[in-house]
Amino acid sequence: MCGIIGYVGKEANALDVLLKGLSSLEYRGYDSVGVAMFDRMHRLSTVKCAGRVAELEKRVQGSGDSYCGIGHTRWATHGAPSDINSHPHGSANLQIVHNGIIENYACLKKELTELGYTFVSDTDTEVAAKLLDYYYMKRRGHFDAVCETIERLEGSYALAIVFADDSGTIYAARKDSPLIIGIGEDANYIASDITALLFKTRDYYSLEDGDIACVKADCISIYNKGIEVKREKQTAKWDHVAAEKGGYDHFMLKEIHEEPEAIIRTLRPRIKDMLPDFSADKLDEDALKRISRLHIVACGTAMHAGLIGKFMFEKYAGLPVSVEIASEFRYNDPIIDENDLVIIVSQSGETADSLAALRLAKEKGASTLGIVNVIGSTIANEAHSVLYTYAGPEIAVASTKAYSVQTSLLTLLAIRVSLLRSRIDEKEAREFTHELYVDAPRAIKEMLERASEIKALAGNFAKSEDLFFIGRGKDYYLSCEGSLKLKEISYIHSEAYAAGELKHGTISLIDDGVPVIALATESRLYGKMESNIREVKSRGAEVTLITNAESEFKSADHVIDILPISERLAFLPVATVLQLIAYFTSTERGCDVDKPRNLAKSVTVE
Ligand code: G6P
Repeated sequence: MCGIIGYVGKEANALDVLLKGLSSLEYRGYDSVGVAMFDRMHRLSTVKCAGRVAELEKRVQGSGDSYCGIGHTRWATHGAPSDINSHPHGSANLQIVHNGIIENYACLKKELTELGYTFVSDTDTEVAAKLLDYYYMKRRGHFDAVCETIERLEGSYALAIVFADDSGTIYAARKDSPLIIGIGEDANYIASDITALLFKTRDYYSLEDGDIACVKADCISIYNKGIEVKREKQTAKWDHVAAEKGGYDHFMLKEIHEEPEAIIRTLRPRIKDMLPDFSADKLDEDALKRISRLHIVACGTAMHAGLIGKFMFEKYAGLPVSVEIASEFRYNDPIIDENDLVIIVSQSGETADSLAALRLAKEKGASTLGIVNVIGSTIANEAHSVLYTYAGPEIAVASTKAYSVQTSLLTLLAIRVSLLRSRIDEKEAREFTHELYVDAPRAIKEMLERASEIKALAGNFAKSEDLFFIGRGKDYYLSCEGSLKLKEISYIHSEAYAAGELKHGTISLIDDGVPVIALATESRLYGKMESNIREVKSRGAEVTLITNAESEFKSADHVIDILPISERLAFLPVATVLQLIAYFTSTERGCDVDKPRNLAKSVTVE
């Protein structure tokens, strides 16, 4: 999704900061890029283009020193990616960059057109810019013009604004789209997320909905409804090294390799005497005992992590769980009440649909719990309770280590709830926790050491245009994630199927040489899976089996065996293998692994 960066300081290095910041924002996914900067003579100029930051770099060469500027990476929603649709937008008086969607832009545009304004782009942002120009021209002062403008805007926005007649101030405003103010020495910053600023600062304020900030080199003032407000200073635990590739070819590969450590980091503070202990997170355990139903709501990979959570809570805690896609949940009038717990799983903590689902659940009286990676993000702030995952910054668009920590944390929580509800005893809980905390990271490490074996197999998949994943039980849930990973970054058409459902349709697509990846880690289902493998084999499929019980299977063409680990946690090393398959297939096809086409890391609009 779109990214915002801004710099105002006493050193004339705005261009450097903006370009570095824009490069750090690239991971969010974007198609165009631009900056507006003041030069030493305090003249405001704008440079923007469709394409990558490298293209913008060429165009701004020789722009000279600057003390203040704003920049943007755009992920097109209104109007195709083009130079003209790129941000910043504005007039001779001002320039703005915008994340989000202005829903009433059409009627504002009509009103402004009648007032004599003309528009050059197809964007909703230009409408907001011209509206601001209108209020500015009414000579109400910069701050009042910003206030009047945002009062008229419906939808979501994070805005950074510079006025041509004030080269020392950036205004920032937000509603339903994240925006932070970075705190520096003799300089302050604006960004859509902290990773873009880690090379300069780790201290920041998170703006809240309705906030307007006035940011200068030596002071930051934040207002809400016209009154000055204080926001708590936050400090990112991540450093800039964590947000760099560290010798790996791609962020995705680095992040997959970080999984064992990320799991341990996430679980460690929640384990005492090898039993789950969430006291430091201040979870209301009485409420956990009382709940009668659980809803896990999320998008993309986080939703797939929720499926593993469903398995754990149902099997061990005996709780009925529904896993729902946030964009569906929010419009389907879900049946939830005060006896329900709604868990929102989100790496970024900013996904628009997940946030809307959280607000809906709260409205309906349910307890809510966020499982979130980004500290201080909106979902983390708004949920009744929050459990942070400590994956560190995830930069690659395709989520990997976030899935591993989300599924691990959901499992640990399921163990705790199972204990609370007396579904398992302490002995079993201890064994389970040990397997999760000690054995699973070790099993993942061992699979990482076998990356070359996985790479060799991925070479075969790279030639295909269709690929099918099959599994049963947890393995079906894992198949969904394996398939998503593969299609996201290699652009191979892929589907995940519950193996028993194949013969109700999808098997008609199986033909000579079509690759099928079969997952089989549940002993109660080995026999069933062997039959499913035979079914697809007899129709010409080339089957790669990922299993923890190689000797139980006779028909697969290739086998990746998972090292001994308790069957209930085999999903963790299997997930790593599936991520590596997607990674190597994508690199083999020459795709842009970390920044796949059309995708965004953090989907902050509907
Ligand atoms: C996008 C990302 C996915 C992610 C999903 C949910 O689609 O590309 O990797 O799983 O959003 O994001 P969240 O930040 O809420 O986990």
